Amino acid sequence: MMLEKLSTFPDVKLFENASLVRFTTMRMQVSGNLIEISTIKALKEVISFLTLNQVRYHLVGLGANQVFINTKDIIFIKLCFDFDDEKLDLNHLYFPASITLNKLTKIAKKHFLEGWEVFTGIPASLGGAIAMNAGTRLGEIKDLVEEVDVLKKNGEVRNLKKEDLKFIYRGNSFLEEGDVIVGAKLSYSSINEEVVKKIDNYLDYRSKTQPLNTKNCGCIFKNPSPGLPAGKIIDELGLKGKEYKGLRISLIHGNFIENFDNAKASDFYDFVQEIKKIVKDKLGIEFEFEVKLI
Ligand code: EPU
Repeated sequence: MMLEKLSTFPDVKLFENASLVRFTTMRMQVSGNLIEISTIKALKEVISFLTLNQVRYHLVGLGANQVFINTKDIIFIKLCFDFDDEKLDLNHLYFPASITLNKLTKIAKKHFLEGWEVFTGIPASLGGAIAMNAGTRLGEIKDLVEEVDVLKKNGEVRNLKKEDLKFIYRGNSFLEEGDVIVGAKLSYSSINEEVVKKIDNYLDYRSKTQPLNTKNCGCIFKNPSPGLPAGKIIDELGLKGKEYKGLRISLIHGNFIENFDNAKASDFYDFVQEIKKIVKDKLGIEFEFEVKLI
């Protein structure tokens, strides 16, 4: 009944009880309800409708950094807003939340936007990257975010300025439950051709140190501290290559798990809990998840 109604909204495409495999980078078998939304107007209507009907929703972004464990009683939302390259204005770098960091990296290389190298290679949409304060060893996206437009549960869009945007390592404290980032204005530090080299060098580093050609969801655990990378800890405990029901700790990077044989999300959950326990028992370190378990 509720889903039927959603399918009548304009600019909304409903996938009912469908396979969600292609909506996550880890590609684990799972089905559920997902809607693709192509305009802000439609998004406002959908969010107000879901709020009114007390339905839980989750934005999938590009599907990295998340694993869907329990898909019952939740609607997944994928934003597909348009962005017209022709309209790019270097004095007002405003983008829809659904634009990919990959696309932004191309823009950075074309216009020499120094500062944008910090998000090179991260598989994320801009909205997801801001919510997570995505980053690499070159820095975090927080330093580039000038303004964020956030859709609240009541359907109102609020414009948050730099001083309202409080970020933490791989997260933020300005978004409330149910908020949806719809767009953001970015800045850059200078126009400098050197950024092209920085991006290319970093992509090269990443391709050598991360299992990019496998089905994975990015780093599983947050680094306990900047000088103590979770991947290195897992590596030094000799856990690389460890397997469990179609899942394997990457041989290339200890903080990645690869789905090499039709793994199930419930097995993923058991596996990461086991890794967490080994680390706690052997070193007394309490790993925190970077990946979102939904
Ligand atoms: N290391 C090992 N063994 C391993 C993995 C890493 O010894 O199996 C060592 C490396 O040799 C290096 C250090 O640990 O000396 C750090 O490794 P790396 O440069 O790969 O960075 P990281 O801290 O493990 C972070 C981000 C990544 C991001 C990389 C590269 C976190 C949790 N991870 O990883 O982000 O791509 O830097 O810039 O902050 C993600 O967020 O999903 C993610 C993958």
